[in-house]
This record gives sequence, structure tokens and C-alpha cells, in this order.
Amino acid sequence: MSSHETEYHSNDFDWEELRQRIENDPTLAYHFQPFTRHHHHSVTSSSLDSQSWNQFHSRHSTGKFFKERRYLFKEFPELASCEESSKLLEVGCGNGSTLLPILRCKENILVYACDCSTEALDRTTEVIYASNVVSPKSRFRPFCWDFSTSRPPTWFLCDSCYETLSQKPNILHSEHDNDERHFTDINSSKERECCIGGMDFVTLVFTLSAVPLDRMSTAVAECFSVLKPGGLLFFRDYGLYDMTMLRFEADQRVGFREYKRADGTRSYFFSLDSTRDLFLGAGFIQVELEYCCVKSVNRRKQKTMHRVWVHGKFQKPM
Ligand SMILES: C[S@@+](CC[C@H](N)C(=O)[O-])C[C@H]1O[C@@H](n2cnc3c(N)ncnc32)[C@H](O)[C@@H]1O
Repeated sequence: MSSHETEYHSNDFDWEELRQRIENDPTLAYHFQPFTRHHHHSVTSSSLDSQSWNQFHSRHSTGKFFKERRYLFKEFPELASCEESSKLLEVGCGNGSTLLPILRCKENILVYACDCSTEALDRTTEVIYASNVVSPKSRFRPFCWDFSTSRPPTWFLCDSCYETLSQKPNILHSEHDNDERHFTDINSSKERECCIGGMDFVTLVFTLSAVPLDRMSTAVAECFSVLKPGGLLFFRDYGLYDMTMLRFEADQRVGFREYKRADGTRSYFFSLDSTRDLFLGAGFIQVELEYCCVKSVNRRKQKTMHRVWVHGKFQKPM
């Protein structure tokens, strides 16, 4: 079976057994020690982060890195059955791996895509326009946004809607619950009164792990703000003790369960508890949360790889 086919089978092994094996391995002990911050790691500038991602995306511009996430509809069936003209924001769109299957399978969904890297936005746009997606111009709109340090642009969410939507629970209504459901051109602002209004869905797929831990709760709060009451957030990201975490060297640690690659991009590894704390802390309701454990075998190297991802589905209260 190819890795594409196995990716959504989530229980190839027991996470608790993996945890015990890893935590009892003395060669891996440095991963679990409390983190003491060294001064050269203390700067977490947001412009540096987007620079690193810009460089990452220019290096991988050939598209070899592109891997369409076909499992999305299996993991998040709400995407497959959503209403016409539902609005979705993909946060940190990368090279479009998450968006392409969505635009391809759902002809009536309106898709917004943000990233802090303009290179990423260019890649995604190229990928979408080069594919056989139906009328991308009227259904797809990319824009630059660092969701860990700033509010969304006002054409997307104006100040007054932002204030209403960012309140935790007790929101009785949204001005946009019944807004016009038919767009003629997603890129034209003429017909809008103040902004697009809230999203029905947010996808956060391998993006939050790239945000420095000290900015994650702000970032999740922004995701909460852009959703309509009742809207769903789909989360998938690196899980604690994923094989890629254990490959990091001691000097690549920049925080507890937080690492920096040689190219300057970061990666955090989520436990179910840290994920729950982040999303519930922002006001979300937990709908699903679990580890997705996939064993794959590299036949050439005769090695078994234990992949761990976190799968989460969270809802903004009505
Ligand atoms: C690994 S890619 C994930 C791409 C895509 N979601 C997917 O499913 O393949 C992570 C992306 O998040 C973007 N990113 C990292 N930090 C961000 C931030 N603070 N705000 C917006 N985008 C960010 C990076 O530029 C990169 O394109």
C-alpha cells in the first residue's frame, strides 16, 4: 500500500507504547529535559520567520515537494457535504496541497488562502491555475497575512465584525449570517458593504507547528475570530514523538518540544493536552481530538517509520 493510501488509517500502533519506548531510550533523553533558553535562540521575529518560509518555498518551487492531501475528505467529511457557497479559509496555504483537492472536489465552495510568505501564495496560485479546477478566479482568493502577529485585513474582516466575532461564547448573532451567498467575482470588493464576514470553515494543516510557541494562543484566537458562530476548524499537525521530532539534534531545540531547522523554519510537536489547551483556551468546543499513528516501511533502508500526527476538529460555539 502506498503512503497516500495508508495516511488516514490512524491506528497502526499504540501511541502510549511508542511514548514508553521513546521516553525510556537514554539516547533521546535531551528531548524531554526542561528547556533553558540560550540567548541566541531568544529572538522570534515574525519577519525573520516569513523570510525563512519565503526561502523554503523558492527552494522547493519545482513542485516536487507538492503532495496533494487526498485524505482530507476522509478525515473531515463535513468538507464533502458542505452547503453551496460555503466559505473556507486555509491558514498557511504553503504550496496549495490542502486547497487543491478542496477546490477540485467542491465546485461551489469559496476559498480564501493566507500565508505569511508571498512565495507560498505565488506557488499556491500557480498550482491552482495550472490544475483543472473549475473557475478559480471566482472561487479562490490568496492574501498575505501573518496570523500570529496581526489581525486579518479589513476587506476580509472589518473592525466591527472582528469585535463581534472575536468575543468568546455568548455571541447571539452575526451580521453576516444571512449575507449574500452568491459571489460573482471573489476578487472584486464592489458588492461588499464592510467585509467578507465570517468563515464556515478554517483549515489549519501543518501550519500551527511553524508558529513560535509563545505566539500560538494569539494565532488560534485569530482563527476563532474569523469563523462564524458554529463554524468548524479542521486541524492536522505534527504529533508528539513523531519520527521527525526524534531526528532533531539537541542544539536544534528552541523550546520545550520546539525545534528549528537549519533553514530557519520551526516545528513544534503537539500532544493532545497541549492542543486541547490551545483551542479550548481560545473558546472552541472540542469535537474530535486524537493521535493518528501510521507505520510505514522504507524498504530500501529496511526501516520502520513511526509517524504521529494530531487530528482535531473544533467548533466555535453558536
Ligand atoms: C508546512 S506548510 C503547510 C502548507 C499547507 N497548509 C499544506 O497543507 O500543505 C506551512 C506554511 O505556513 C506558513 N506560515 C508559517 N507561519 C505562518 C504565520 N505566522 N502566518 C501565516 N502563515 C504562516 C508558511 O509560510 C508555510 O507556507
